[in-house]
Amino acid sequence: MRAFLAQPAAKIFLSLVCLIPLSRLVYLTFSDGLGANPAEYLIRATGDWTLRFLCLTLAITPLRVISAWPEWVRFRRSLGLFTFFYACLHACSYTVFDMGLEWADIGRDILKRPFIAVGFSAWLLLWLLAATSFNRAVKWLGAKRWQALHRAVYGIAGLAVLHFFWMRASKQNFAEVAVYAAVLALLLGWRVVRALRQWPAKRMARVL
Ligand code: HEM
Repeated sequence: MRAFLAQPAAKIFLSLVCLIPLSRLVYLTFSDGLGANPAEYLIRATGDWTLRFLCLTLAITPLRVISAWPEWVRFRRSLGLFTFFYACLHACSYTVFDMGLEWADIGRDILKRPFIAVGFSAWLLLWLLAATSFNRAVKWLGAKRWQALHRAVYGIAGLAVLHFFWMRASKQNFAEVAVYAAVLALLLGWRVVRALRQWPAKRMARVL
């Protein structure tokens, strides 16, 4: 397994796996399989996949540390870009298929359902991270500033859960929201505990 993770083919394999949800949606679209409300189906499916890819991206660092296999890091950027890709499909499903690009209606809908504005804010932050995810951006910003900027992923996770929670609030249906919130809290909590454990050692190293 570890030897496979280090192969260039592993990245291609991962990209093909990440395209499976899209292939399924394309198949369902052309085989009339999206049900009575195709736009709603597409919005919900792409929203779910955006959240799943966000969880997978955030799982890479714990996986690397717990398994002690640095090879996992090779997949973090691709997973992050797939999160952005599915978020774009999600936003397009809403603006194009549901709202027919009627911007005045979109504005009114956002005022009526502010959870959409929360999703939009998360999407804007994802643009920022996607645009600075390349090696040249790391060089341009400097490692410290780049790292600080990419901490926005925690804000994205919070906004995504709030967006989902708020959307489901009218139906009082929080079961799935609770699962994603628990997974994200676990992944982020793990980082906080690790940072707190490393903090005294780092301070000591600076003093010595
Ligand atoms: C990081 C960004 C985002 C994430 C993670 C996300 C995630 C989700 C999730 C999980 C759902 C619920 C799906 C379900 O019921 O199974 C949802 C619903 C929805 N999202 Fe997002 N979203 C994001 C950004 C956006 C953006 C940018 C827009 C619009 C511009 C948007 C518009 C909507 C709408 C309209 C619904 C509700 C659809 C309905 O009423 O059936 N979202 N989103």
